[in-house]
This record gives sequence, C-alpha cells and structure tokens, in this order.
Amino acid sequence: MNDRILVVDDEAGSREGLRRLLEAWGYEAETAGSGEEALDRIEDGRATAVITDLVMPGLSGLDLIRRLKADYPLPIIVLSGQGTIEQAVEAIKLGANDFLEKPVEPAKLKILLEKMDGARELLAENRRLRAELREKGSFGPLRGISEKMKQVFRQIEQVAPSTLSVLVTGESGTGKELVAQTLHELSPRRRNEFVALNCAAIPATLLESEIFGHERGAFTGALQRKIGCFEMANLGTLFLDEIAEMDENLQAKLLRVLQSKHFRRVGGTEVVESDVRVIAATNREPKKAIEEGRLREDLYYRLNVFAIELPPLRDRPEDIPLLARHFAEQAAVHGGAPIPPFDQSAMDAMMMHSWPGNVRELKNAIERATLLSGGSAIMPEHLPPEVAMAGLEQRTIAAAQPRANGNGNGAVDEQAIRVSIGSTIQDAEEGLIRSTLAHTGGNKTRAAKILGISVKTMHNKIKKYGL
Ligand SMILES: Nc1ncnc2c1ncn2[C@@H]1O[C@H](COP(=O)(O)OP(=O)(O)OP(=O)(O)O)[C@@H](O)[C@H]1O
Ligand SMILES: [Mg+2]
Repeated sequence: MNDRILVVDDEAGSREGLRRLLEAWGYEAETAGSGEEALDRIEDGRATAVITDLVMPGLSGLDLIRRLKADYPLPIIVLSGQGTIEQAVEAIKLGANDFLEKPVEPAKLKILLEKMDGARELLAENRRLRAELREKGSFGPLRGISEKMKQVFRQIEQVAPSTLSVLVTGESGTGKELVAQTLHELSPRRRNEFVALNCAAIPATLLESEIFGHERGAFTGALQRKIGCFEMANLGTLFLDEIAEMDENLQAKLLRVLQSKHFRRVGGTEVVESDVRVIAATNREPKKAIEEGRLREDLYYRLNVFAIELPPLRDRPEDIPLLARHFAEQAAVHGGAPIPPFDQSAMDAMMMHSWPGNVRELKNAIERATLLSGGSAIMPEHLPPEVAMAGLEQRTIAAAQPRANGNGNGAVDEQAIRVSIGSTIQDAEEGLIRSTLAHTGGNKTRAAKILGISVKTMHNKIKKYGL
C-alpha cells in the first residue's frame, strides 16, 4: 500500500504547497479545505496519514483529531501557526503524533513523516492481521486454528513491536524460525535486516567471527576485514538459532555484548556499537540444557525476557487440515498446477500420524503428494509410506478386530496386511508393496529384497502404482 497523505488546511496556498512537496518526495497526497471535507475524504479509507492545520473555520483541527482518533487510527501531524502552541499540546494529548510550526520547514516535516511511517504501517498491518486471524487461523505467514497456536499468535502480536529479546523454544520443525521472521516483520525494524545465524551449523572456531566480525589478519586466512552478523543486523533483528549449541565462552561474550551493546571485532581494537534486537531459538528444553551445561543460565535469563513455546504438531491435530491445505496451495501455485483436494482417507491418515518431524515433515509430505497427485485428489498412496501406514494400520486394525496374530494372545498382528475377497491381484500387490516400503521406511532396495524382486522391478511397480 502506498503512503497517501491527506493535507487539511483552509489556506489554499499552504495546502497546495504541502501537496507539491509531498508528491515530490514520492508520497501520494490529497487535500481538504476544511475539517468537514477531511472527514468526507477519509471515508474511502485510502489515506494512510493526516497533516492538519489547527485553526480553521467550522470543524476545528482539534475536533477533527477527536473524530479521527475515534474511528480511524491514522497517524496525525499537526501544523500550528503563531499563538497556537497550547492547542498543539492539546492535539498531542488527543493522540496526534507530532506537531510542526508554520511556516513548515521541509527538512523537519520529512523527519516527522519518516518517524510516522513505522507507526502507521504497524497499525495497518496489525488490523489486517487481526482480521485475518479471526477469519481463518492465519497470522502473517503462520497458520494455525488450535487454541495453542492462537495463544502463540497473541504472544507474537504483543511482543513484536518492542525491542525485547525473545526466546523461541519447540521441537525441530515446529516453526521457530518462521516465528522469529514474523516477529521481525511485525516490528518497526522490518525495514532493516533480519539476519539469521544457525549456531549449530558453524564450527565453534569460526562462530565468534561470524557473529562479531574480524579484522584483517586477525587469524590465518583472515585476509580482509569481515563484518559480522551483529553489525549487519544493526537497527534490525538478529536471529540466533540453536543457541544452546554455542560454545560456553562465546555465550558469555554474547551476554556481555547484549548488556553493553558494544563489542570489538575479532582481532580488533575499535569499539563497535550496534543496536540489535535478538531473538534466539533452541529445540532443547532450556532448563535441561542449563542443567547439562549447554546453556549458560545468565544468558538464558537475558534472552528469556519473553518466551514463546511452540507446541509439537501431535498436540494440536486440529491444525493439520489447515496446514495441509495451506502447503498444498503453496506447492500447487509454485508448480503452476491446480490446487488438489484431499481425499478423506488421506486426511484421516494424516490425522492419525504422529508427525515426529512436526510441521516441516507435514510440509514435505504435502509438497510431494501435490506433485504425485498431479492435480487430482490427494490419496493415501501419495503420502509418504509411514503416513499412509498410519491410516492403513488404523483401518486394518479396525477391520481385523478381534483377529488375533496366531500367538493366542489376542494382539493384533501389525505386520499383516489384509486382502479382502473381491480384491484384484493388482490391489493385493499394490498393498503389499506399499506396506513393505512403509516397513523399510521407504528403502526400496530392502523392500525389493524382502519381496524377492529386483530393484528394477520395484522401481517399475512404484511408478505403476504411483507410490
Ligand atoms: N504454523 C505454521 N504455519 C505455516 N508454516 C509453518 C508453520 N510452522 C512451520 N511452518 C513451516 O514449516 C517449516 C519448518 O519451520 P521452521 O524452519 O520455522 O522450524 P524450526 O522450528 O526452526 O525447526 P528446526 O528446529 O529444525 O530448525 C518451514 O518451512 C516453515 O515455513
Ligand atoms: Mg530452525
């Protein structure tokens, strides 16, 4: 959405002058000659900010602000002529963002507008997000309809605009990085960098220079000065992923920097300042990581000013259909294909699977299924064997009750596959191959061995049955 500023002034000269100035700076501008006209214009919802004079015949600037604040949470800059300073103060009390004395000094106005941008966009974004959230369980890039995820969304909304550190915890694949990105996107820092650093992916010896940068010659191979993540993220957000995998000494250094906001590059003497909002994540249980000596307690308390805990997917199965459709849509749009519907049997299988890899596992499964289904309904056979099996086992168990496994103990034989009279040989073969693949975790060579066929035949059958 473009910035569109409504200029309200009864003096045509001043109004038009401002409009030209704003347009020269790349804003869209519209004007109103009175408070009443301003209220008319604002109704179409296109204005994103208001600059208004205070002393006008009819509806005064202060009245206009009162009316605007009640219905349209737009940022407002007030223009005060001589002798209206008290009114300007009153305007601020009513909720105007700032005031500027007439005649307007362009440089000052520019600064105010830039300051306002952040506040205004955040307001608009929040409104949009809240509406979306209410409707269909979507919050920025995140999806979830379960109470647990709605709680997470509320937490994000609450903490995003601040500069508080946030610690995001949750099992692998639960969406920690996406939450960190969303926090950044909903903060006034979103115009600046979001720098993500995975502490587990970088050798301990290099991590310090990765975070803080280094000077030329700091160590063998340091041929040039390097700017670290802390500097890159200045005025933005630094996401420290897998924080518990960071070396203990480095954790101590990080804590010092978080407190003092300045540091030196590795091998350097110059003190560098950086204003960074830190979001950290770990898939370990923080308390346990502290006990095991992986996470420094003092750093934990510094980072854990605000904690967001992402529940595993198995604890919020209500989210599965919504997420599945979301990923199918994404994958289809990405591949330029129609969005496939889900057959109920496929949805049932997904609801029964425990998703140890959480949302990431679901996303991968759906991407693959969308591809395999070729635009027609997603069936269990398009899902990874272990997911399809979750449904199959359930159905087999249900159908087989109280079929015993022959040991006389009444337990259901989960290794068995059930073939009903009326099935074709092909049906039976397909079922057998699918179950065997599930048993081997998708390993085709092992499955082929078990079934006594060649790997080539196995590949042909997989293709034939679309497994
Ligand atoms: N609630 C959600 N809505 C939509 N997409 C999600 C959601 N949660 C996770 N995802 C997607 O699932 C994948 C995994 O998420 P992400 O990388 O954020 O997980 P993580 O918790 O950081 O995992 P790890 O600990 O393994 O790094 C990503 O592709 C992400 O976009
Ligand atoms: Mg991650």
